[in-house]
Formats: sequence, C-alpha cells, structure tokens
Amino acid sequence: MKGTTMGLRTGRCWSFPVLTFLIFLFLCLATADSFNSSFSKVKYRIQEKVCNLYEGRWVYDEFYPPYNSSACPFIRKEFDCQKYGRPDHLYLKFRWQPANCQLPEFNGLDFLERFRGKKIMFIGDSVSLNHWQSLVCLLHAAAPFSTIIRENSSNISTVTFQDYMVSVILFHSLYLVDIQEEEIGRVLKLDSISNGDVWRNNDVLVFNTWLWWYRRGPRQQWDYIQVDGKIVKDMDRMVAFQKALTTWANWVDSDVDPTTTKVFFQGISPSHYNGTDWGEPGVMNCANETLPLNGSIYPAGLPPAVYVVKEVISNMSKPVHLLDITTLSQLRKDAHPSSYNGFKGMDCTHWCIPGLPDTWNQLLYAALIA
Ligand SMILES: *[C@@H]1O[C@H](CO)[C@@H](O)[C@H](O)[C@H]1NC(C)=O
Ligand SMILES: *[C@@H]1O[C@H](CO)[C@@H](O)[C@H](O)[C@H]1NC(C)=O
Ligand SMILES: *[C@@H]1O[C@H](CO)[C@@H](O)[C@H](O)[C@H]1NC(C)=O
Ligand SMILES: *[C@@H]1O[C@H](CO)[C@@H](O)[C@H](O)[C@H]1NC(C)=O
Ligand SMILES: *[C@@H]1O[C@H](CO)[C@@H](O)[C@H](O)[C@H]1NC(C)=O
Ligand SMILES: *[C@@H]1O[C@H](CO)[C@@H](O)[C@H](O)[C@H]1NC(C)=O
Ligand SMILES: *[C@@H]1O[C@H](CO)[C@@H](O)[C@H](O)[C@H]1NC(C)=O
Ligand SMILES: *[C@@H]1O[C@H](CO)[C@@H](O)[C@H](O)[C@H]1NC(C)=O
Repeated sequence: MKGTTMGLRTGRCWSFPVLTFLIFLFLCLATADSFNSSFSKVKYRIQEKVCNLYEGRWVYDEFYPPYNSSACPFIRKEFDCQKYGRPDHLYLKFRWQPANCQLPEFNGLDFLERFRGKKIMFIGDSVSLNHWQSLVCLLHAAAPFSTIIRENSSNISTVTFQDYMVSVILFHSLYLVDIQEEEIGRVLKLDSISNGDVWRNNDVLVFNTWLWWYRRGPRQQWDYIQVDGKIVKDMDRMVAFQKALTTWANWVDSDVDPTTTKVFFQGISPSHYNGTDWGEPGVMNCANETLPLNGSIYPAGLPPAVYVVKEVISNMSKPVHLLDITTLSQLRKDAHPSSYNGFKGMDCTHWCIPGLPDTWNQLLYAALIA
C-alpha cells in the first residue's frame, strides 16, 4: 500500500514541466515520509529524536484486529468478549498512531526468531495475565502450527512455543513484595522480595502492580503491613505503594544483570467507572462505550500513581523501560469486557482480547527491537 502511494506521488511529480518540477520535488520530499533521499533521512533523524511512541491517538484501521478470538485457544473467560456475545466490533478496529512517528507492526515470526531459546516473564496481577494472554495469542497467530507446551504451578503459568523454544511465562504476584503468614496473620512486607531468584533467570521481565493497593475488606490480601522495621495495621496506601516499588527498584539495581535481562515496568492500567473522567458525568461504568476518545487528551489527566512510578524509575541506576501505557489506555473506554465475559460481572478494569493489550505488546516489541 505505502509503496504504491509513494510511487504515484513521485510519478505525478515527474510529469510536471521542468520549472515547476523543482518546487514539486521539494513538496514531495517534505511530505512523503518514506521518500529515500538525504533530505528525508535528515527529517527522519529529527523525528526519531522527538519520537515518543506513547503520545498519539487512536485511528480506525480496517486491517485490525491482528487475530480472531476464535483462533486463539488461550483466551480466558474473563477476556473473550467475542465469545461471550459482545455485539459491537468497532472496538477491535483501532490502531495506535504515535504523533511523530510510526509504531512498528507486531511481527510474531520475527519475535519468535529473535527470542529463540529465550524466556519472557510477566510478573504481576490480573493485568499482567491480560497482557500475557495477548502476547501468547499474537505469537500463536503468527505460528499456528508450532507445537505448544503448557505448564502450570501455583503461581507460574508457562506457554512454550516448542519449535522456537520461546517461553512466555506469567508469574502471579499482586504486590511484587512479599506476603507472609505469621502468628498475628498475613503480613505485607514492603521491604522484602523473596522471588527474585526465579525472576532474574529470564531474558525479559515485564513487571506490574497497582490494582490491589487500595483494596480493603474481604478482598484485602493482608492483615498487617511491615514497614521500616515496624508492624502497622494500615497506612497511607500510596506511600505503601511507593515503598514497595522502591524495594523492587533496589532489587533490580542490585540483582539484575542488564546485559542478559531486559527489564520493563508496565505503567498504570486505568479503569473506567466514572464518566466524569472522560466527560460523561453520571455514567457509572463502561457498558455503553463503543468508541475510543478522539485525540490525545484524557479529561481527568493521569492518576497520581503514575507520578510515583515515574519518580521511582527515574531514581534507578539500571536501565528500566517504562511501558507508559496509561494515557493511551485511558482513551480506550470502549475496550473493556463490561458484561461480555464468562462470569457476567461488570468489568471495566480488564481488557478484551483481542484488543488493547495487543497494542501494549506492540509497544513492548518496538522497545525490544529498538
Ligand atoms: C535508501 O538509500 C540507502 C542508501 O542511500 C540504500 O541503502 C537503501 O537501500 C535505500 N532504500 C530504498 C527503499 O530504496
Ligand atoms: C472470527 O472467526 C469466526 C469464525 O471463522 C467468524 O465467524 C468471525 O466473523 C470472525 N471474527 C472477526 C472479528 O473477524
Ligand atoms: C493451566 O491453566 C490454564 C488456565 O487455568 C488451563 O487452561 C490449562 O489447561 C492448564 N494447563 C495445564 C497443563 O494444566
Ligand atoms: C510462589 O510459589 C512458590 C512455590 O509454590 C512459593 O514459595 C512462593 O511463596 C510463591 N510466591 C508468591 C508471590 O505467591
Ligand atoms: C467521579 O469523579 C468526580 C471528579 O473526580 C467526583 O467528583 C465524583 O464524586 C466521582 N463519582 C463517583 C461516583 O465516584
Ligand atoms: C446504556 O444506554 C441505554 C440507552 O441509551 C440506557 O438505557 C442504559 O441505561 C445505558 N446503560 C448504562 C449502564 O449506562
Ligand atoms: C476527531 O478529531 C479530528 C481532529 O481533531 C476531527 O477531524 C474528527 O472529526 C474528530 N472525530 C470525531 C468522531 O469527533
Ligand atoms: C529519589 O532520590 C532522591 C535523592 O536520592 C530522594 O530524595 C528521593 O526520595 C527519591 N525518590 C524516590 C521516589 O525514591
């Protein structure tokens, strides 16, 4: 497609009389992104410099989605919106368009070849599960006949593409830091990470934690918090989050070898339960949302936790790539399962597959091949 368009453009330029030719050549050079000349190469370099893949907008793309949900055997009942009867399909048709550059297409075969013999591990809560399932579907769509081996243990699920020896692993951890059963009850230890040896042993690590930090009542997974050598009943949850992330950051800085292991932190994944956030006061969930927000701006701005994540990461000595997916995901109020899932609950926290997490993986791929 792109090649044809470019050919037509240059063709038209060549057909103009000689005097106007130079003017039009200049215009062509200035407009055709992929025109091969020293002029456009300079332009491209300038673009690369200012290119932030996380700033942009959603555009309609008739070639989306990248795979059909019925062709991916891994989608859990929580995320398989098509299977559970979601009637609208437009939400499947949007591609992330960065403002100043192109996001490379996800090339599953290239991914499998590049990571032959390697292990990619997602570590976190159910948002990591969402992210992991999307990557498994994208790779399966690229190599549908590759033999797959699945293994589960209490908190690790692995899918291995046998022909490539590529393992995509999910390590379930709600807070990254430890929870330990003690005599007084379950203690959330903000200063302790005991699973690091399992994590470190991988080639790519993608961390995430946020969803569970404000949970209270029966859904709260701990009874006490251990912080700065003291045991407390509760504390400011944002401070707790920041302390746990700092413990994680110190672990990465001291224990991860960046020459063998690439580390990512997935930014905060937003929910859509308050229409005021996206300019529809009174709306209480995502049930009626069928389109992304237009443009690049989310009316409510960023959730405060994003600033905590950014500050902790900016203080680290080892290179960590922030998958800065918050704003682009905020714009996708249409991309949640709502009630189209296997348990019929209203879910405006997780995301349909296929859907938004495929873009997270496209961004992960872009960062890995850069
Ligand atoms: C663009 O030019 C470079 C060198 O000037 C060359 O190596 C490359 O193959 C060209 N690409 C295309 C698409 O013509
Ligand atoms: C997915 O595949 C099924 C069965 O082949 C087909 O009926 C359906 O229209 C496809 N869905 C999309 C979104 O292409
Ligand atoms: C692992 O768990 C998943 C999801 O619970 C399940 O679908 C799959 O069959 C399990 N695989 C094995 C080998 O037990
Ligand atoms: C994961 O499972 C292992 C072995 O079953 C256990 O020792 C470890 O505490 C678990 N980690 C978390 C974070 O649940
Ligand atoms: C929705 O957000 C607005 C603005 O932050 C707030 O005033 C309102 O109380 C929220 N509504 C609910 C139901 O939480
Ligand atoms: C969705 O829109 C329909 C029709 O406008 C309305 O009846 C319904 O209450 C809305 N549902 C929610 C959850 O806002
Ligand atoms: C979205 O914004 C663009 C540019 O600002 C505008 O041309 C387009 O009509 C808008 N689309 C909708 C659906 O509002
Ligand atoms: C970052 O480092 C500075 C200087 O060491 C320190 O004052 C600040 O508290 C740190 N911030 C976080 C979030 O760790």
